[in-house]
Amino acid sequence: MDKKEMVKLLNEDLAGELGAIIQYLTYAAKATGPYRPQLSQFYLQEVGDEQIHAQFLANKVVAYGGEPVTVPRPVPSAHTNHEMLEEIMKAERKAVADYSLRARQAEELGDKGLVVQLEDMVRDESGHAEEVERMLRDWLAK
Ligand SMILES: [Fe+2]
Ligand SMILES: [Fe+2]
Repeated sequence: MDKKEMVKLLNEDLAGELGAIIQYLTYAAKATGPYRPQLSQFYLQEVGDEQIHAQFLANKVVAYGGEPVTVPRPVPSAHTNHEMLEEIMKAERKAVADYSLRARQAEELGDKGLVVQLEDMVRDESGHAEEVERMLRDWLAK
């Protein structure tokens, strides 16, 4: 693991965060039904966290001498509230897995600051995933 390889990986993560921002913004607009106010507010609240993650990753890519990506990971299409929450849960679980791996790779690289930041992001994404998991727990798909 060297800095160049890490730039490539952090850029994949950055594309994921840019995609997450778009996903939450779009889903906030698309939420319908009696729970629309809560769902919409919840999605918009998440945008703030993902933006902080994206900002950190873009800064780190530049600090390592790379060029931050500007193309987001594609947002999965979802048509109902339930489908949107399921897609979000998948994305958040992927983020937890990706940042857990990335923290180990940063350890290999010997960048303790990056390790700590990535572990913070694992905590944030775990919180997002658990929140959505509880929303879906008693909500049958329609
Ligand atoms: Fe994130
Ligand atoms: Fe998240």
